[in-house]
Amino acid sequence: MGMNSTGGLHSGAPTSTRQEASLALIMQSGVLWLFFALTVCGANFSPPVVKINLDQAPELRWLPLKDLFSKDFLQKAAAQVIDSTVPAWVHQAIKPVVRALERFTPQPYAAEIRGMAASYGSDISDILLLNFAYEVSAFCSSIVAQDTKGKIYHGRNLDYPHNVLKNLTIDVLFIKNGEVAYRGTSFAGYVGLWTGQSKNKFTVTGNQRDKGHWWDNIISAVLLKYSPVSWLVRETLEGASNFLNAVIQLSEIPIISDVYYIVGGVYPGEGVVITRDRSGPADIWPLDTLYGNWYRVETNYDHWLPTPKTDTRREVAMKALNATGQNNINLHTLYQVLSVVPVCNGITVYTTVMSAAAPEEYRTVVRETCG
Ligand SMILES: *[C@@H]1O[C@H](CO)[C@@H](O)[C@H](O)[C@H]1NC(C)=O
Ligand SMILES: *[C@@H]1O[C@H](CO)[C@@H](O)[C@H](O)[C@H]1NC(C)=O
Repeated sequence: MGMNSTGGLHSGAPTSTRQEASLALIMQSGVLWLFFALTVCGANFSPPVVKINLDQAPELRWLPLKDLFSKDFLQKAAAQVIDSTVPAWVHQAIKPVVRALERFTPQPYAAEIRGMAASYGSDISDILLLNFAYEVSAFCSSIVAQDTKGKIYHGRNLDYPHNVLKNLTIDVLFIKNGEVAYRGTSFAGYVGLWTGQSKNKFTVTGNQRDKGHWWDNIISAVLLKYSPVSWLVRETLEGASNFLNAVIQLSEIPIISDVYYIVGGVYPGEGVVITRDRSGPADIWPLDTLYGNWYRVETNYDHWLPTPKTDTRREVAMKALNATGQNNINLHTLYQVLSVVPVCNGITVYTTVMSAAAPEEYRTVVRETCG
């Protein structure tokens, strides 16, 4: 390292003075030091990749999880998430209701959840509850942006006030006919997707839009037979043929809670924030590059309203994007924007950056640090 940089200084900059050379060395050792500091105290890491074969029966699809997570670990983790989300007495009281929910849960999700419960020897009502409890608990920042050449980039942070999710984060490849049909980032035990990509077509993220309580969601699931928002993301990734089609599905199909869907495409202008009510769209907010709106930032507030003073994620992300500039936006700089505090913060579980037109560049990093 030292030898190389000295060599570089001599050959690349023959006119540099001693002072410039030593300044460069100091800066390099500073960078090195920072590098060591980061690798020692906080190791961000890539989550494990799981292949789910959609050509298998839904009950069997998630069996590969067993190679990654022991029964013991997953049961403890699930208990922690449930305990932190659902009061103990409610947990007991709700069990019969949750069991009834199984009958209303659409396929293939009901069978996938049943298969997972069977292979881990868990009570199915707990795995179901887990799928509905996460449903209403995600805080997030999502950004969709277009560079000056018309390429679309999409990134997200998923925040959740429970550390255990870091160890449960997985990148999932959904395989059909031997090929990746679509992919996404999720948590072991959870069949929906908050983050995903249909290659060469579109990318989707979902952010919580806070309204009501999680039991309202269970009620609308049972009474109205609406779908959880993360299942609609998966369905759309599986079925929509292009960006426009995805936007229509994500806007129109009824879901059990309000949410923000952020969608990126492959052609210039294909970027949008959809503000959802349960029954349909409340607002559609596309990129508008002709008027300088080359990005859209969505956290957890309606974009037409000011954000609360205590949560500046939207403003900080916009400032970082303005400083980056449309000329310089790419997946790398987008990741940097998503690393700025408090856009990245103590409860950030993972960051994903993706671009449907360059599907192999999909990248998720589990966050132990924002550096
Ligand atoms: C996650 O896994 C690591 C390594 O196995 C362990 O040290 C850490 O305590 C785990 N964190 C949580 C929150 O379970
Ligand atoms: C970012 O730039 C836009 C367009 O010039 C401007 O409207 C906005 O106020 C800026 N935001 C921040 C936080 O700097």
